[in-house]
Amino acid sequence: VKIVRSIRKMQLLSRDARLRRKSIGFVPTMGALHAGHLSLIRRARLDSDIVTVSIFVNPTQFGPHEDFKKYPRMLSRDAALCRKEGVDFIFYPSAAAMYPKGDKTFVTVEDLSSKLCGLFRPGHFKGVTTVVAKFFNIINPDVAYFGQKDAQQAIIIKQMARDLHMPVSIRVLPTVREKDGLAMSSRNLYLSEAERRGAVVLSQAIREARQMIQKGVRNPRLVIAKMKALIRKKGNTRVDYVSIVDICGLNPVQRIRGKVLIALAVWMGKTRLIDNSTVEVPYA
Ligand code: PAF
Repeated sequence: VKIVRSIRKMQLLSRDARLRRKSIGFVPTMGALHAGHLSLIRRARLDSDIVTVSIFVNPTQFGPHEDFKKYPRMLSRDAALCRKEGVDFIFYPSAAAMYPKGDKTFVTVEDLSSKLCGLFRPGHFKGVTTVVAKFFNIINPDVAYFGQKDAQQAIIIKQMARDLHMPVSIRVLPTVREKDGLAMSSRNLYLSEAERRGAVVLSQAIREARQMIQKGVRNPRLVIAKMKALIRKKGNTRVDYVSIVDICGLNPVQRIRGKVLIALAVWMGKTRLIDNSTVEVPYA
């Protein structure tokens, strides 16, 4: 695996691959790779001739009081994992290069970016779409891979690629979970032992919601109330939101039918975790 720090070099490598008619699979990450990232990399490895993984803790997607400074950075470990998975290039740019002095251009997907997590993390998705658009320009991938764990992010990026006619397919792969159900996330590293044990309540709440819906409950308020009660029973938690929304517009549904997204964001102590699941209920 070759670590590429220069934007120009990365562009030339991608152009060279294209000239040789090689397909490019791209996995954007902020590093601290876990099994969720590895599932994306493996899929990319199966699908594409060249696999590029970006590792960049993107400052513009963090709020002023968020965890940008303490976000885990472990390049040599990540590089070893990438090498083992047969990754061709790790794109590892500096923030100064990605955001040159005097830059004035940002990419925003309106509406979708201000819902769910966007309500609690203003500017977050603007940072995500801007950096992903930059990556697409630099790496020129045929396919880019995202995890369903960040469901809202994946929906927003699909919208951006569609609206801006970006010649890239967006593939979204299932959430990878720990044995007890906790969704894999680099932020799980922040959890104390007790918080880690408690964090299982997120996936439990989602499982409970799915069961209620399977049993025929169609009133989202009942499902959400049950989920919140379950979460609150665990100490040291604070709910940002628990929502059931339509999968296209991310608007809260009045009745559960068709394909809906059950999504939540919950603080375990000082760590904000998210999880979600889609459920499909036939229209009666
Ligand atoms: O999902 C992430 O890790 C980040 O939001 C992404 C897509 C790499 C952009 O910084």
